[in-house]
Amino acid sequence: MEKNEFDRILVEKTEGLNRVIDKYLPREEGPQRIVAEAMNYSVRAGGKRLRPMLMQEAFLLCGGKQEDRLFLEPFLAAVEMIHTYSLVHDDLPAMDNDEYRRGRKTAWAVYGEAVGILAGDGLLNYAFETAMSVFDCCGCTGKPITSLYSSREYLNRAARALSVLANKAGIRGMIGGQTADIRAEGQDEPVTKEQLLFIHEHKTAALIQAAMTVGGILAGASEEQIELLEKCGYNLGVAFQIQDDILDVIGDSRELGKPVGSDEENRKQTYVSLAGLEQARAEVASLSEEAVKILDGFKPGNGFLRQLVLELIHRRQ
Ligand code: IPE
Ligand code: IPE
Ligand code: MG
Ligand code: MG
Ligand code: MG
Repeated sequence: MEKNEFDRILVEKTEGLNRVIDKYLPREEGPQRIVAEAMNYSVRAGGKRLRPMLMQEAFLLCGGKQEDRLFLEPFLAAVEMIHTYSLVHDDLPAMDNDEYRRGRKTAWAVYGEAVGILAGDGLLNYAFETAMSVFDCCGCTGKPITSLYSSREYLNRAARALSVLANKAGIRGMIGGQTADIRAEGQDEPVTKEQLLFIHEHKTAALIQAAMTVGGILAGASEEQIELLEKCGYNLGVAFQIQDDILDVIGDSRELGKPVGSDEENRKQTYVSLAGLEQARAEVASLSEEAVKILDGFKPGNGFLRQLVLELIHRRQ
């Protein structure tokens, strides 16, 4: 696919995902209005929507059908809510202490720390409220909407997808990685490559793995395919975080929509501080090529997803 054509499709798909995500955001009403406002402020600030994009493309790669879109959509919104919550909390003064995110002030800098914390909590919980709304379509919450997906097969897929999402977001996934990241901060002895890999795998790759495997599970992928998506998400996720660390050193804060130099300020040890820029770049390329190799095992393939992974190697935002 020509680069121009790829970029056009990427914009079109991102806009489509924004419409889906927007549909599931909470109403800003009642005495708790401010927390919904801060949640929506953070989600609507934008971002690449990479995780729902990967979920959707994995769903298509595994033969997901158009008529099952309603089954997929709540999970697309949910994974972006979990990701956005992780950013809202990541920026807090007690964590990375950053004030800008997605091109504007981050939640705590606008609403104060207390509402910033609550907005993160709210997004994490609302993600599961949203994902569980698939059970409305399954006809098992007493709501007479549609029982399009009431078969045992669909219920099993939805339950498994929820379990993957919960696990990968939790202490054995993203929260575990963020904990190790904070613990390693300012550590005097150099982190080992093993420690750094643990941090990257958990704080970043876990949610990317969740996105891809949930897409596959909802499409009815085979066990073998789900395992491949998990491996692909690992490679892509670690590459994505190394590139994030590279951009924290050589990126442009306006292009990125967040500060650069945050890692050095927080005395974080990253691939770049450990092995240098060149080695970090080579690692991004080789992990991404590994991810593409795994995707090439799927027949028929998904050319857009393949190209997306390759484009991410050189991303500037
Ligand atoms: C930033 O994620 C945090 C990391 C895990 C590196 P993204 O780079 O996907 O952020 P948005 O969603 O585009 O803002
Ligand atoms: C954060 O990594 C990963 C998350 C789980 C949020 P970073 O702290 O490097 O992410 P940025 O650079 O602030 O987006
Ligand atoms: Mg961080
Ligand atoms: Mg950060
Ligand atoms: Mg970073």
